[in-house]
Amino acid sequence: MNTELAHTKNYLMTTTSRPDIAFVRGEGSYLFDQNNHRYLDWVQGWAVNCLGHSPDVVVQALCKQASKLINPGPAFYNGPALELAGLLTSNSCFDQVFFGSSGAEANEGAIKLARKWGQKFKNGAFEIITFTNGFHGRTLATMSASGKAGWDTIFSPQVDGFPKALLNDLDSVRSLISTNTVAIMLEPVQGEAGVIPASPDFLMGLRTLCEENDLLLIADEVQTGCGRTGTLFAYEQYGIEPDIMTLGKGLGGGVPISALLAKQSCACFEYGDQGGTFSGTPLITAAGVAVIQALLSDGFLHAARQAGLQLAEGLSAISSEFSLGEVRGKGLLLALELGNNTGPEIVSLAREYGLLLNALRSHCLRFMPALNSTPAEIDEGLSLLKRVLSEVK
Ligand SMILES: Cc1ncc(COP(=O)(O)O)c(C=O)c1O
Repeated sequence: MNTELAHTKNYLMTTTSRPDIAFVRGEGSYLFDQNNHRYLDWVQGWAVNCLGHSPDVVVQALCKQASKLINPGPAFYNGPALELAGLLTSNSCFDQVFFGSSGAEANEGAIKLARKWGQKFKNGAFEIITFTNGFHGRTLATMSASGKAGWDTIFSPQVDGFPKALLNDLDSVRSLISTNTVAIMLEPVQGEAGVIPASPDFLMGLRTLCEENDLLLIADEVQTGCGRTGTLFAYEQYGIEPDIMTLGKGLGGGVPISALLAKQSCACFEYGDQGGTFSGTPLITAAGVAVIQALLSDGFLHAARQAGLQLAEGLSAISSEFSLGEVRGKGLLLALELGNNTGPEIVSLAREYGLLLNALRSHCLRFMPALNSTPAEIDEGLSLLKRVLSEVK
């Protein structure tokens, strides 16, 4: 890192530990640092850059829109926001959309919408059953909805009303349902917990519980949505329809946009209930339109599924060769259990060799390459990983 950066880095709050690298350029699956070193990026902004770094379609959409109109304000209609809302609703089971800027904001909106529905139609029921190890964001309400260890006390008092059940344990959910319950909220694949998929039986069971008890099913697809798990939305693979879904991360291909989607039957916000100065700006929704059109283009999701299979098979072979643990996940959201605590060491050695990885826990690696990764790029990453593992071993 050059002297100027070394000095100015102290002006950033210390909210995360960062290596002494500043990236200056990105191109598809690769990032380049200030010394023009190239890195194959399998983190992609934490599963955000679904089309890789600075994809042409997003750059063009942003440039074109920026020169026309950036932000007329959220209380006026604009073309790209309407187009994106149309694309999202016509390719999902939902009827209406609210745009935000982050996954946490979309989830706050989902929580508010469920509570509003409870006030209007369910005698003020407000509790939302969420899950141990679940992750829904870093605002106070979404931290309270999350089931991350330690988050119940870190900024106490929590926001009330998020009893925790266990993923893939229907009885644990059933036992928490009361007259106060308004919804059940989950990630179809728990991302931050270690890429743990909900089982099909479990999600179907939740849908049935919701029908029987007049509850809303909320799918947090901030991480699993927008092609990450091999279909446009992960819920499609489970044969169920949620009542509410949230999106973020991949939706903007790198720029900050999120969405709260709801079926007509529960889209019950009234004027003033929800808003935000950056909601649905034409600049950012134009990027969203470009991303969704790319994901829906002929053969795109098929190729992403193939890349996911190639990566999963490669990781399984590596796991056997190095006597590691389970490979799990869906599409291009995968994890490899290491069976030991070498995760941070692997991440830092891989970076030296030009591969960016994420260790979710010290014993688990998570893989989130660009959805348009080529077979050659997947092979390159697998070879680099093997090289790293043989040294760390
Ligand atoms: C499932 C899930 N929900 C919500 C969030 C929060 O999104 P954001 O960081 O954009 O607020 C994340 C972020 O990792 C996530 O994985």
